[in-house]
Amino acid sequence: MLVTNPTVATLYAAPVTESLETAGFVVKACTVPDGEAHKTLDTVRMLYDRFIEAGLDRSGVVLALGGGVIGDMAGFAAATYLRGVALVQVPTTLLAMVDSSVGGKVAVDHPWGKNLVGAFKQPELVLADPGTLTTLPGHEFANGLAETIKAGILGDPEMFHQIEAHGPAPASWIVERAISVKVAVVEEDPYERGRRATLNLGHTFGHALERLSDYALSHGAGVAIGLVAAARLATRLGACEPELAARIEGVLSRLGLPTTYRGHTPAQVWQAMSTDKKRRGKTLRFVLPRAIGDAFVTDQVAQADVLAILDSLRET
Ligand SMILES: NC(=O)c1ccc[n+]([C@@H]2O[C@H](COP(=O)([O-])OP(=O)(O)OC[C@H]3O[C@@H](n4cnc5c(N)ncnc54)[C@H](O)[C@@H]3O)[C@@H](O)[C@H]2O)c1
Ligand SMILES: [Zn+2]
Repeated sequence: MLVTNPTVATLYAAPVTESLETAGFVVKACTVPDGEAHKTLDTVRMLYDRFIEAGLDRSGVVLALGGGVIGDMAGFAAATYLRGVALVQVPTTLLAMVDSSVGGKVAVDHPWGKNLVGAFKQPELVLADPGTLTTLPGHEFANGLAETIKAGILGDPEMFHQIEAHGPAPASWIVERAISVKVAVVEEDPYERGRRATLNLGHTFGHALERLSDYALSHGAGVAIGLVAAARLATRLGACEPELAARIEGVLSRLGLPTTYRGHTPAQVWQAMSTDKKRRGKTLRFVLPRAIGDAFVTDQVAQADVLAILDSLRET
């Protein structure tokens, strides 16, 4: 059961179907409307209908062809249909390749928040063809670059240096390296009991800014600003080398990603951060870089320090 959307179907459904049929598989396809607005239980219910009509049984496979929205939604349907059928992820955006297709988290949105209903569902296979990135719009590529830079800061100084010195090429090498960082973290902590939380580097700030903008700010943009915020906070707390924040800022702005925000006051951003669903208990948790390739999690951060950093990042 190939699940995709009309945008991706036009580009890649035919070669994927042909390739599978040549290998002896029977392929049935269904498309769901494009966009985060459709990452809902209603669309998943429609997928169940298509699966039943197609006669998909426990021996069947759901193949998610597309970006993170398709991967999350088809993945959630695969995790729950008949108590779970096999899942193959074929990510076609940079973000899906380096982030959402790997790690086994699948989810849909709820009117009260993003990704509130989900499951852990490891794919049998993730097949990323960097050739598909050639058709990806530039702003979508930039979204994925923010996560790629995050991966470099978390665990791959060599990849970070490569992008710093030569830009995001060759894509296949960067995709492979960024996936490896995520795989290493997830293999150690598949259910997010400890180290996996470091993958949220930049996200405590980023999610708050995204939400405050009513999602006019893209996820990648939020994460980029969040990465700078985390590095500045680490510097302020004496946890990292003083030049780290400037390096991270430099590479992100060369990639066309924002490093400052407008509008909301630091107090409003703090408030939005405090209602983040990933918050554990009463204290806010931060992932902070020590150096390129090394990050740690802490809940020992004073509100005043966070407000000072937010103030320094705010364009007036
Ligand atoms: N499960 C996880 O661990 C995890 C991690 C990060 C993000 N996510 C989720 O991922 C989603 C975002 O994913 P995304 O950034 O891939 O967005 P997306 O899936 O909406 O894709 C972005 C756009 O690009 C189009 N597209 C996809 N591949 C293309 C190609 N090769 N050429 C041209 N156009 C193409 C899509 O149709 C869409 O319009 C969010 O819902 C987020 O919550 C999940
Ligand atoms: Zn992210």
